[in-house]
Amino acid sequence: MKAKDLVYLNGEFYPRSEARISVEDRAFVFGDGVYEVLRAINGRLFATRFHNDRLRRSLDGIQISLEESDSPERFAEIGAELLRENDLMQGEATVYMQVSRGVAPRLHNFPSPPVPPTVYISVTRFKPYTDLAQTGTSAISHPDLRWGRCDLKTLNLLPNVLAAQKAKERGAYEAMLIRDGVVTEGAKTNFFGVVDGSLRTHPCDNHILPGITRSVLRGLADDLDISLEETPIKVSELSRVTELFVTGTTADVMPIVELDDRPVGNGKPGELTRRLQKVLGESLASGSA
Ligand code: PDD
Repeated sequence: MKAKDLVYLNGEFYPRSEARISVEDRAFVFGDGVYEVLRAINGRLFATRFHNDRLRRSLDGIQISLEESDSPERFAEIGAELLRENDLMQGEATVYMQVSRGVAPRLHNFPSPPVPPTVYISVTRFKPYTDLAQTGTSAISHPDLRWGRCDLKTLNLLPNVLAAQKAKERGAYEAMLIRDGVVTEGAKTNFFGVVDGSLRTHPCDNHILPGITRSVLRGLADDLDISLEETPIKVSELSRVTELFVTGTTADVMPIVELDDRPVGNGKPGELTRRLQKVLGESLASGSA
């Protein structure tokens, strides 16, 4: 028997193919909304509290107010219910949550009076990139063409989409985004590198998304007494990078062993990368975040 494929839309559950939104939804016409992607392992959501906080921050950041009965916590419960309903309690899945400013005639300014936000939640079976995580993979560098509030997880992903497509065309896993001569982050991940022996990543400011995996990994690095400097890696330093990896909800710790067709370090996943990959794997398996 085929597993059910239910999604949640505005208070109701529907088969995925029957869920409908209006052509006047502001997500459709303006990309006016925010989203989250969570990882679920054997029916348990990972780092829910962090995702809830970030969703709240993104909503506040673009001034969307949820209905009284709604909250990120409630959305996480609905995500868990969808996992049960869709037979995803064994193995891995992702939970996608999206909130838009709702349905209104097309005017750029916010609808006045406000309309109820559109809430969409769905779950999908996920297969971790286990083989790539072992061998490592490649990235290309690409200009960071995004706006000045990359710290908000908004639906406006066009520069990310274009950069990801460029990476795909060049057979690479990720695009490393460059702004003002420094590495900000990836199209869908955060970047970390070892330069002159120090592990570095871009600080959390308006130019990067504060990744949940980044944040969990920072805590794990602390526990291992691995110091992490939040200092951006300059393009001029890239030739001295001996290890490179990205983090993300679906990437975990993914070694980058080739950048712009040149090997990174000795062309193999580095020792620090391996250690961090191992502890993040343990944390995901035990659900301790
Ligand atoms: N991407 N940076 C960007 C631009 C991202 O889109 C993401 C996540 C990350 C990593 O964040 P986290 O560790 O919280 O997943 C960094 C999600 C998974 C996506 O858009 O599908």
